[in-house]
Amino acid sequence: MQTGLRIIVLGLVLGLCLGQLYNDQDPEPEPEPEVRGPNQGSLWPLPQNVQSFDVSFKLSSSSFRIVDANPSSAGPSCNILQDAYRRYYEYIFGAAKKQRESKATLVGPLDLSELHVWITSPDSECDGYPAVTSDESYQLTVDQPYAVLMAPTVWGALHGLETFSQLVFEDEYGAKSINITKISDFPRFAHRGILLDTSRHFLNIKVILANLETMAMNKFNVFHWHIVDDQSFPYVSRTFPQLSQQGAYHPYTHVYTPADVKMVIEFARLRGIRVVPEFDTPGHTQSWGKGQTNLLTPCYSGTKPSGTFGPVNPIVNTTYDFMSQFFKEISSVFPDAYVHLGGDEVDFSCWKSNPDIQKFMEQQGFGKDFSKLESFYIQRLLDIINTTKKGYMIWQEVFDNGVKLKPDTVVHVWESKGMDVEMAHVTAAGYTTIISAPWYLNYISYGQDWTNYYKVEPLNFNGTDAQKKLVIGGEACMWGEHVDATNLTPRLWPRASAVAERLWSAKDVTNINDAYSRLSAHRCRMVERGIPAEPLYTSYCPKEYKGI
Ligand SMILES: *[C@@H]1O[C@H](CO)[C@@H](O)[C@H](O)[C@H]1NC(C)=O
Repeated sequence: MQTGLRIIVLGLVLGLCLGQLYNDQDPEPEPEPEVRGPNQGSLWPLPQNVQSFDVSFKLSSSSFRIVDANPSSAGPSCNILQDAYRRYYEYIFGAAKKQRESKATLVGPLDLSELHVWITSPDSECDGYPAVTSDESYQLTVDQPYAVLMAPTVWGALHGLETFSQLVFEDEYGAKSINITKISDFPRFAHRGILLDTSRHFLNIKVILANLETMAMNKFNVFHWHIVDDQSFPYVSRTFPQLSQQGAYHPYTHVYTPADVKMVIEFARLRGIRVVPEFDTPGHTQSWGKGQTNLLTPCYSGTKPSGTFGPVNPIVNTTYDFMSQFFKEISSVFPDAYVHLGGDEVDFSCWKSNPDIQKFMEQQGFGKDFSKLESFYIQRLLDIINTTKKGYMIWQEVFDNGVKLKPDTVVHVWESKGMDVEMAHVTAAGYTTIISAPWYLNYISYGQDWTNYYKVEPLNFNGTDAQKKLVIGGEACMWGEHVDATNLTPRLWPRASAVAERLWSAKDVTNINDAYSRLSAHRCRMVERGIPAEPLYTSYCPKEYKGI
């Protein structure tokens, strides 16, 4: 009793002290939901224009149809649409076997029985890949005699189908219902990405696909695949198979074969998602060295090689021969117009220790400025990439070091310190930019950190309108040091959903309480669709997660 009491008192005192330490400001009250039905018809990310009316129709699983209203170019031959119709029918009504509804249900006057989908531009892009220039807009009208979804391209239609599915709710008797609604929608930013890191830990294909699926539910459109890094090289290269044979955690079980990569790209395409692979050099390359001898710089201890290796060796021709062949393969395997070349966090200490590098620095007149050597390397790499006709994205250091970049280069800003100044510099130099600095979702803490991601305004820096137009979006990053298939999905969702709305919805969509109530419902919707998205705060879902 005595001891128990003492522990409680001690706990209280400790709690108060810790409270003092961690709460120098008044803690913000946790957003709480409006009291409203557990759902629904609630939209995330919020469309640009929504008009909804207090008239509802019923949807019956036995009679409801998504109808192609397309002329020949899209239509029944468009597998993107056909695949999406099936997917969204199942999201709306649950998988077919679960339906308990009688087949004999008659269509009544208060039923909505059809959604007509109409791709309005002659080039539906059905056979192509989404691009940063794709038109993702759509118009949705839910009314009698049938609902109509119009979009210039299939990419917009996919977003419209997601929105339509979000409008459907269950009334108190469990019947699927939808209200009269008129929506016209388009994204605020063209580049809305998620970075997954498959090097620090291997992520199996199943979990990657589940996250692509969830990205589509949140209208994300870029999967930035940080596929290799120091720790492992899971990408199976046809040209250099020894890279994964030696550099993967395991050469058979912890790799992405050409068939795996193809599957990821096609699964993403069917959801309007681009796959931008990142092959980061010259730093972050320890795993490359295992399968490709003489690629990395030998480090020295005094006058002798120490047996360890540093960044890619920038002073030998074999490096550039290798990179030419390697990126030729990459540019044919990945259809996107862009490849991410990394270029971040190069550690100069090994280069400094190596006498051959020192000699080369002297010959080139670089003095002691190793960032000049880094630029020398990147410049030659960019010349190689130019021959593949790909555009490139690079981390901000490459720009900071003054490397000559193509005008269509995308500079990726990741350092949160001085982010606004960096954005001003990059855009003043005329480069397109995306931000990740405020959205490193691998950092976790107690409480509702989604609000921090939500409050970010990407255009909050000093610059002209022309400069602000160069900001094409951003990416939420989930670096993998502490993340594998066991915790990736709940750690990412719904926290990344906050970033999704910031990048899609209008600038003035900033009300945290409204966001909380819509995001809680959206999170329950993800759970209902089988995605283990974590809760925002105390709450319940009408249909709880059933496990895998
Ligand atoms: C839908 O319509 C019903 C009336 O049929 C109304 O009570 C409800 O608030 C409406 N919901 C939305 C989201 O507008």
